[in-house]
Amino acid sequence: MVSKDEKLNRIKNDIFEKIEEYYKVKGEKSFIPGKDRILYAGAVFDEKEVISMVDSILKGWFGLGAKAREFNDLFSNYLGVFKTVLVNSGSSANLLALSSLCSKKIKKPIKKGSEVITPAVTFPTTFNPILQTDLKPVLVDVDIATYNCNVEQLKEAVTSKTSAIMLPHTLGNPNDMDTVMDIVEDYDLYLIEDNCDSLGSEFDGKKTGSFGVLSTYSFYPAHHITMGEGGAIAISKKDMQLYRTIRSLRDWGRDCWCEGDELSPNGACKKRFDWEINGIKYDHRYIYSHIGYNLKPTEIMTAMCLEQFKRINKFTRKRRENFQYLYNNLKKYEEYLILPVHHKKANPSWFAFPITVKNDAGFSREDITSFLEKKGIMTRLIFAGDITKQPAYKDISFRISGPKKNAENIMTNAFFIGVYPGLDMPRLKYINGIFNDFFKEVK
Ligand SMILES: Cc1ncc(COP(=O)(O)O)c(C=O)c1O
Repeated sequence: MVSKDEKLNRIKNDIFEKIEEYYKVKGEKSFIPGKDRILYAGAVFDEKEVISMVDSILKGWFGLGAKAREFNDLFSNYLGVFKTVLVNSGSSANLLALSSLCSKKIKKPIKKGSEVITPAVTFPTTFNPILQTDLKPVLVDVDIATYNCNVEQLKEAVTSKTSAIMLPHTLGNPNDMDTVMDIVEDYDLYLIEDNCDSLGSEFDGKKTGSFGVLSTYSFYPAHHITMGEGGAIAISKKDMQLYRTIRSLRDWGRDCWCEGDELSPNGACKKRFDWEINGIKYDHRYIYSHIGYNLKPTEIMTAMCLEQFKRINKFTRKRRENFQYLYNNLKKYEEYLILPVHHKKANPSWFAFPITVKNDAGFSREDITSFLEKKGIMTRLIFAGDITKQPAYKDISFRISGPKKNAENIMTNAFFIGVYPGLDMPRLKYINGIFNDFFKEVK
């Protein structure tokens, strides 16, 4: 007699085989030049991610579970950090990073009202947590071809009120981490690396995201790996208080730090029901030591991310190759365009290919981006540009350290195109051809 479990396994395998067949028939999407749009980014996945997600659905455990544990360990090993905590977006990771460093539960909490230095050209939710945690933003200019913080201004911006630096590695390009770490150590500051756009990038052979006390990741489809929406926060050095604080703030503010997932639903400590508050016996999982959030992703999302992460080295290689292929062609237009530059110790895993149109180019950013867009090549701007110029921030008081000349230039003249692993040779050749056509018209 075939047991129920055997029957279920057989059906499950049939489903998985059908999914495989679906993706085999679907195959790679061929490219019709001039008809198909070339995205600036997108999820690259196949039956493996879908089977992993369906497997989680059939299992019926939707909260974080075994796959999340596996991902956290693999990801921490890859970065060379102490712990990783999954969240539901890169924005949530940034909010958790600053919120946890302000918590009274950690050894040296950031004082309310102290200053956090960050670049003027930024993504809104890299910047917003500074305001959301009642800290004061201090803006520094960026360098034109790296799009990263100007390190001289960064150093000059430090005062006795400075507590932290919120540092994105813009579009995958690592900051000058020798100088940044000198500043962090000299002035005893917290460094948070917004590594949302730079998973796989390295500085001096060390992964970005492993320098700061905390680093953050986005797994939105435009990023290096994806789980639909989602993200993570990594803690670089062993610090159980900080780890528990991050978990607590992510999970409604609860005090209990046991995983409490499918592997140990009643907690691993076996003391869950032995706690009390104000003389009342109370379940540890319902004791709240922070005013928290719920920023958790689901196990189904994690199932996708786990499979995506197995591809990270291939993705990183392809991003670098695509960047180089586009660079080799665009180099001949340096009379008109400022091409991206990286520090000599940096090995970026590019998120995208940034370009700034020179002031004396004889054409505007809109001329070139509308030409590219009309030919089906997606372009994007460098996020918010100079954040002080965005309508949401018109009433915010910033301390601005030095002139923001480059921030203004970038907001006016810069844009980016994609380098993501979904760009194959026919698409890359098409992009180069369209740039060549544009410059034939300009010359
Ligand atoms: C540098 C940076 N930080 C944070 C985020 C926010 O990530 P998410 O969209 O996952 O909230 C993004 C989004 O693209 C980003 O580019």
